[in-house]
Amino acid sequence: MMSYLVTVFSGDRLWSGTFNRVYIKLVGTNGESARQWASPVCGFQTKEYQFIIKCSTSLDYVKQHWKEDTLFGYQFLNGVNPMIIRRCSQLPENFPVTDDMIRASLHGASSLTDEIKKGNLYLVDYKQLDGVTANVINGKQQSLTAPLILLQKTPDNKLIPIAIQLKQKPGEDNPIFFPTDSEYDWLMAKIFVRSAHFNEHKLKVHLLRTHLLSEVFAVALLRNLPMVHPLYKLLVPHTRYTLQINTLAMEMEFSLRQEHCTYSASGGEGMLTILRRAVSYLSYSSLWTISPIPLFRNVCMLLWDMIHKLVQGVIGHYYNSDSDVQQDSELQNWIKDIFIHGFLSRFNSGVPESFDTVVELVKFVTMVIFTGSVQHSAVNSGQFDYGGWPPHTPISLRLPPPTTKGQSSESTMLQTLPDVNTTANGMATMWLLSKQSTDFVPLGEYPDEHFSEDAPCTLIKEFQAELKAFSESVKARNSGLDVPYTYMDPELVENSVAL
Ligand SMILES: [Fe+2]
Repeated sequence: MMSYLVTVFSGDRLWSGTFNRVYIKLVGTNGESARQWASPVCGFQTKEYQFIIKCSTSLDYVKQHWKEDTLFGYQFLNGVNPMIIRRCSQLPENFPVTDDMIRASLHGASSLTDEIKKGNLYLVDYKQLDGVTANVINGKQQSLTAPLILLQKTPDNKLIPIAIQLKQKPGEDNPIFFPTDSEYDWLMAKIFVRSAHFNEHKLKVHLLRTHLLSEVFAVALLRNLPMVHPLYKLLVPHTRYTLQINTLAMEMEFSLRQEHCTYSASGGEGMLTILRRAVSYLSYSSLWTISPIPLFRNVCMLLWDMIHKLVQGVIGHYYNSDSDVQQDSELQNWIKDIFIHGFLSRFNSGVPESFDTVVELVKFVTMVIFTGSVQHSAVNSGQFDYGGWPPHTPISLRLPPPTTKGQSSESTMLQTLPDVNTTANGMATMWLLSKQSTDFVPLGEYPDEHFSEDAPCTLIKEFQAELKAFSESVKARNSGLDVPYTYMDPELVENSVAL
């Protein structure tokens, strides 16, 4: 009899073991049991499989609406990766969508050109996944594609997908899918996008751009700045648990025989390819320009400005002039260490090799705190909300993308979604990573009180008051929403990368 290594949730407890049969029980926020969710959509008809999970309001919503275009588009703005979407000013040459193809799907618009002129078209391009070798899981070759997605902002202010091409190179075996195609042609196209999203998000957006960067900043801090240095006092609370969680992640998730390498489409060789590419494109400006999309950008900017004000006040208290910055050898060693070991001495990254001015120093330190707190929360905390329903965020896919239209059905979808043990491990990891630590310290709280002088202590109190007011405004805005956006509520943003 076949057995499965699975991870099972029971209340707040999580444990793993080897079983011949696995049962899933998904429990909604109102306590309703929904065992039927599992078998018809996850491809487990022949194997029983039970989780006991308390769903969040967002996950409840995702379970009910996961096939809808509105939710699919919404996540590019409010999901765990709001960084990849761009306003489309010109269609890429390798994405040959025409007006004739798309006319029936354009919401209240006459042509693509008109919509581009009005600024209503958006593009998502997973080109960095192109050519990545997909994993082999349970002895079976998996699929990982590099899709392109065109989205339209509709007159009622929704973001709706209007065309999807699953591979980068256009051709007869790479059809462009539209919402007017059959239900399963269109749904399968969206499933392949969501799987690409998972793999890109996990390695590039979450691991590299928050966890690993924060580790670079923390190690450089511990190596170069003494405990009495004002920058050490300012930054060390924002490094709490970062080395610990990264060490655990490397041992338990990203080492060759562990979860990500074993169960994700991008595990193994693909993981190294994606990370190498992402490092080579990593730029300083991308760490503080935040997002091209107004709503997410505006919320980020408010928090960025609060952090900036704190940093400017503290740094300004200790550094009276640019020459103070230039002559601080410990500070200069810190940034040099970051430049050499974090950005591999790449001048084209835009990361400074040294600091010449107070302004430069303030901006960099603001980015360090922002990356470890707000940015990490934005890309980390919603993983289970949007990934806890397996068909919505498959961590791997077993069949290649469709090469013709009219071939997809519920049966091919079930054959494409991952195996039961793959799914179980993906859900377990996302659940764990989205939990709040038991000794969580929110943004702006400094229980260790490194500063004793009046000026920095006053600045910290002002920072805390601004964060509290902002938190109340976020709660008020969320109260009327079907899917609340809580990831940047300062009360729920951790001070450091700790999980
Ligand atoms: Fe994280």
